[in-house]
Amino acid sequence: MIVLGIESSCDETAAAIVQDGTKILSSVVASQIEVHHKYGGVVPELASRMHIEAITPVVDEAVQKAAINIEDIDGVAATRGPGLIGALLVGFCFAKSFAWARQLPFAGVNHLEAHIYSLFLMDNKPKFPFIALVVSGGHTNIYHVTSYDNFELLGQTRDDAAGEAFDKVAKMLGIGYPGGPIIETLAKTKNPDAIMFPRTLLEKGSFDFSFSGIKSSVARYIHDKNITTKDEKAQVAASFQEAVIDVLSQKLINAAQHKKCLRIGIAGGVSANQTFVKKLSKRAKSKNIKVFSPPVELCGDNAAMIAARGYTMIQQGSLCALDHDVFSRTKT
Ligand code: KG4
Ligand code: ZN
Repeated sequence: MIVLGIESSCDETAAAIVQDGTKILSSVVASQIEVHHKYGGVVPELASRMHIEAITPVVDEAVQKAAINIEDIDGVAATRGPGLIGALLVGFCFAKSFAWARQLPFAGVNHLEAHIYSLFLMDNKPKFPFIALVVSGGHTNIYHVTSYDNFELLGQTRDDAAGEAFDKVAKMLGIGYPGGPIIETLAKTKNPDAIMFPRTLLEKGSFDFSFSGIKSSVARYIHDKNITTKDEKAQVAASFQEAVIDVLSQKLINAAQHKKCLRIGIAGGVSANQTFVKKLSKRAKSKNIKVFSPPVELCGDNAAMIAARGYTMIQQGSLCALDHDVFSRTKT
């Protein structure tokens, strides 16, 4: 079965063609970063307009790169939520119309479940059960995953998402947007333990997160120490990143031990951070736990993961009707 996947929940317009839920025939991502860059974050209205401009060329390119004909597509999947309503509507309505015009099954995919599915697009997939972290600009969620359809939410952020904290700290340092990759690169030359930013672990046994304390502490430090040079900024970046990685790693390993899981999978934009992957893997290994992370191109928003999730939904008959709508927040 060949599925066309479409993603437009935030600032990436993406389309992919995936065969049988696992084989990526093409995956095209048109990023709007250049446009939002000058505002230091995503401007929803601009995002919607740019999705409208990009959607048809991106789908065309995905079909061409997959070397298939439109008639070969057996099903359609698009992100239904969570995300920016105006942005979601562009991809969702395009996909709905495409499916309706060609009389194809159509699945409305949960973006967070799709991030977990990016782990199933790898040759070396985690076996069930495993602990999954979806860590991006909008979410920091820990799940206990026991099957292709069972994602038990164990914890989530109570304020900022980890990626959001990266973006906000980068903005404070005046080093650009999106903050994650810039901070990671800048941090490479510095000792991460030089500044001790707080680690907020919340109540004992909780798998929730809070990153606002770390963020405020970085803001105070930048102000009090009058951080201005590139060298000083790199030091703040390294120690901030270390604090975030420390909290994420501790919670993940605690969750794995609590659920007696020997596997942890990480997904979402922040999982592209190789310092995080290496440090988590090392700590997990000492507890006999293996870490799985997708290749960088599948960490951030993409449509291959949407098609992969859509494939299982279509197979199960879990389809969207024409009057189904998008949603901005997960109902948990
Ligand atoms: O999954 P994603 O592309 O979009 C959302 O659904 O939010 O994630 C984007 C987030 C941004 O906050 C970005 O700063 C962060 O992922 N990110 C990183 C890295 N690459 C992207 N954070 C830390 N280190 C990175 N290398
Ligand atoms: Zn995402």
